[in-house]
Amino acid sequence: MQKRALITGITGQDGSYLADWLLSEGYEVVGMVRRSSTLNFERIAHIQDRLTLVSADVLDEVSIVEVLREHRPDEVYNLAAQSFVQTSWGQPVLTGEVTALGVTRVLDAIRLTNPEIRFYQASSSEMFGKVREVPQTEHTPFYPRSPYGVAKVYGHWITVNYRESYGLHASSGILFNHESPRRGLEFVTRKVTNGVARIKLGLDREIRLGNLEAKRDWGFAGDYVQAMWAMLQQDEPDDYVVATGETHSVRELCEVAFARAGLNYEDHIQIDQRFKRPAEVDFLVGNAAKVREKLGWRTHVDFVGLIEMMVDADLDVMRRQVS
Ligand code: NAP
Ligand code: GDD
Repeated sequence: MQKRALITGITGQDGSYLADWLLSEGYEVVGMVRRSSTLNFERIAHIQDRLTLVSADVLDEVSIVEVLREHRPDEVYNLAAQSFVQTSWGQPVLTGEVTALGVTRVLDAIRLTNPEIRFYQASSSEMFGKVREVPQTEHTPFYPRSPYGVAKVYGHWITVNYRESYGLHASSGILFNHESPRRGLEFVTRKVTNGVARIKLGLDREIRLGNLEAKRDWGFAGDYVQAMWAMLQQDEPDDYVVATGETHSVRELCEVAFARAGLNYEDHIQIDQRFKRPAEVDFLVGNAAKVREKLGWRTHVDFVGLIEMMVDADLDVMRRQVS
């Protein structure tokens, strides 16, 4: 029988790739969208006619219960979040409501309507923060460094707790940074690749950045959503680190991105204190041995391939806009 999945956060980067993947696996896909004054369906425009979009909000539990009652999914992927770390200092309470308590609202809605539903929680390497060991595994202690990271720690533990308290099939994917041409413009990879395209076409001269020495384990979002799905196909729920196992600095990201367009990053980067964070996560690198061994998960795009893909995509978009 055809399986039905509900994705919260379907309009986001990961939601759109996960919807692509689940459709290709033969799922019926229901996407939760929140009300806004203008439509923001760009990332799912290419598949919109194959999706059922329903209005609800993780701030409003009744709306989630209604969606579950009406659409009866077999699997729920909870990707909805206030996901930008910098914003979480300016809006710490909202971040807690959406990114932390939102998880409990979805879990409670599952518990009350159909505890057989399989649940995926989008946890984050940001929970490791000021890292306690290198590389980070499922057993590395958390030390979050932002209100966002703190909220994700809550979301992770409430997922574990509902699994242990109520026997829910609830899994938490501790995903390291993953990017794509559909990444939001405020995140550093896309900010740089979009900026490179603008500079190449003469629309801009510089990109203003914060800390160039921060290091991240960056992978391709299209690969990472397959791990989310694989977790829910297991007999037993569990927690998994998903990462490439390689780390690179923001400076290296700039070097690769500018070089793709035949430019030198040192001619175009300005340091701007506004983009530095009150507390930084200096270094992340994950050990994905468990997800590789147990779920057979693999990456298909490496760091240079990812950044070049993003620069090429931004150049294409920008060229179409100016022509
Ligand atoms: P994203 O592009 O920012 O998407 C976030 C999604 O959440 C959007 O669809 C957004 O809807 C939705 N949302 C926000 N507030 C909501 C609310 N109150 N009710 C319902 N939906 C709401 O994030 P992403 O990169 O795809 O990440 C997906 C998830 O994985 C997030 O939970 C993120 O924290 C987590 N994560 C991401 C990464 C990464 O590197 N990308 C790594 C680890 C974990 P609108 O379009 O209406 O704003
Ligand atoms: N956004 C941004 N803008 N980051 C900058 C800038 C800038 O101008 N300059 C330097 N950086 C540095 C940040 O200080 C950080 O160390 C690094 O670039 C990455 O920043 P982001 O791309 O904003 O991502 P993030 O690592 O903070 O968070 C992302 O990854 C998490 C997983 O570790 C988000 O996708 C989170 O939702 C996700 O959980």
